[in-house]
Amino acid sequence: MRVLFVGDVVAHPGKRMLKNNLKSFLAERKVDACVVNAENSAAGLGINYSSAKDLFSYGADCLTLGNHSFSCVDYLRFADSEKKIVRPANVSDAWPGFDEYLIDLGEKGRLLVISLMGQIFITPNADSPFSYFEKNIERWKKEYTPTNILVDFHAETTSEKLAFGAFADGKVSLVLGTHTHVVTADETILPCGTGYITDVGMTGTRAGIIGMNPDASLRRLKDKLPSKYLPAEGEAEMNAILAELDTNTGKCLKIERVRLYE
Ligand SMILES: [Fe+2]
Ligand SMILES: [Fe+2]
Repeated sequence: MRVLFVGDVVAHPGKRMLKNNLKSFLAERKVDACVVNAENSAAGLGINYSSAKDLFSYGADCLTLGNHSFSCVDYLRFADSEKKIVRPANVSDAWPGFDEYLIDLGEKGRLLVISLMGQIFITPNADSPFSYFEKNIERWKKEYTPTNILVDFHAETTSEKLAFGAFADGKVSLVLGTHTHVVTADETILPCGTGYITDVGMTGTRAGIIGMNPDASLRRLKDKLPSKYLPAEGEAEMNAILAELDTNTGKCLKIERVRLYE
């Protein structure tokens, strides 16, 4: 099974990048399943009905979210009806939305998509992703009989992401870090067969600061003054992971970092 995972899509430049390039890439590289992190797809913060609809029409089979799941309240309107959108699972039971989604490819396999959030330097506070994983891994296997499991691990610190990768190695096919929007060059297959990267990076404007207009960041960081974040304008890039997964063993056979420029 060949899986493409696209890092955090930031606002209209990120969506434009996918609108113009994703379907051709999926066809060229013979991708079977495409998962996109959409937590910043609505004007840079959160997801809304229109950004979700757009991303599905560009080729996404499943969308994952993160700490910005509810930054755009529009998501509350359809969170409990759109099963193909997965928000972090290790959160308050009061959160609407779905904990997991199975992409059923028939003979090509069954990919279960999970999103978990870290606990260090990130809000809202989540429960331990390690405990949540331990409590649920057998249920996932029984309930969905997946051939492969992908975990989007949404966290701030590299150490927590590496620790989760080591913990989940051999139990899932992929642990892919998201949230920092800055791609890391450490993609690897861990000793027990899990494909891993600390951060996939983002899909948005190259000239911005993590996809947002630099003026607001400088006002906040240099001048210590409040400022509203707005998406940056300009040429975009797509950062993603392309992985080949063994549907018999559940192991990752190949992991490749992908960066496309507009
Ligand atoms: Fe993000
Ligand atoms: Fe995030």
